[in-house]
Amino acid sequence: MTSFEISDLTPSFGSEVRGFDPKAPLDDASKLILQGLFDRRGLLLLRDVDLTHAEQVRLSTTMIRKDDAAGGAPGPETEDNFYISNRRPNSAAPFGRLQFHADTMWSDHPFEVLSLYAVDVAEPVVPTVFVSGTRAWETLPAELRARVDDLSVLHTAGEVRRGDLTDVLVSTVARPPSVVRPIAYVHPRTGETILYVCEQMTKEVVGLPPAESEHLLQDLFAHLYEPAARWEHHWRNGDLVVWDNLAIQHARPNVVVEGPARTLRKVASPLVTLELDEMPAYSAAD
Ligand SMILES: [Fe+2]
Repeated sequence: MTSFEISDLTPSFGSEVRGFDPKAPLDDASKLILQGLFDRRGLLLLRDVDLTHAEQVRLSTTMIRKDDAAGGAPGPETEDNFYISNRRPNSAAPFGRLQFHADTMWSDHPFEVLSLYAVDVAEPVVPTVFVSGTRAWETLPAELRARVDDLSVLHTAGEVRRGDLTDVLVSTVARPPSVVRPIAYVHPRTGETILYVCEQMTKEVVGLPPAESEHLLQDLFAHLYEPAARWEHHWRNGDLVVWDNLAIQHARPNVVVEGPARTLRKVASPLVTLELDEMPAYSAAD
């Protein structure tokens, strides 16, 4: 069995795993340890790893126990064409600030796992910032928890960004998909309850007047995104961060095209199929 060194990144979520070679075959006992850790901590960091795209796919899908499905037949996940980059042509989110979100939160079948691997980053690196919806639910004040326990929200890929939009990357979608979900969303794999709202994609609380809905969402955001609950990852080449896209949200400060290189290879699984008019086009907010 592989011997790992595991250390907490924050008290409530995230672990760094050392002494693990992602190129070596993963025995069943080691796989169970990593999967259990991923379920409990929601995010794993590996540093100084040399990782091919195929290995990144395998490692990411192993975390959600779907490595056999995605690692077999060729499919969208097996194509090495998904980058977050201010350098590489045809990359996603090439510039701008991103507010907190979970990718495809507006979908019936959102991504369960995301990973980013730093292939070309240069100092000073714009970090990726993470918060845990699981921590937020566990620590939500009882009064607020009782208020939202039976309420649902509408998540949409359309325009819902709020607050100070300076530098925010805005994606426009011709026919934005949307979905209604409970605010107290039970994670389908772990059974943990998640405070499942986000500033970028959650439009409104179903059944409440607009002002009351926004006020309640702001109370939830204040708790979910409180500065002490955030973890910032400052990228170095060879870093892999893999996280549970339902339990953990991500954001980033502004990235500029002329700034230092910031190219991160992304794996998302399981992929959702989008029609052309459901795909985002990017523009700056200001
Ligand atoms: Fe994202």
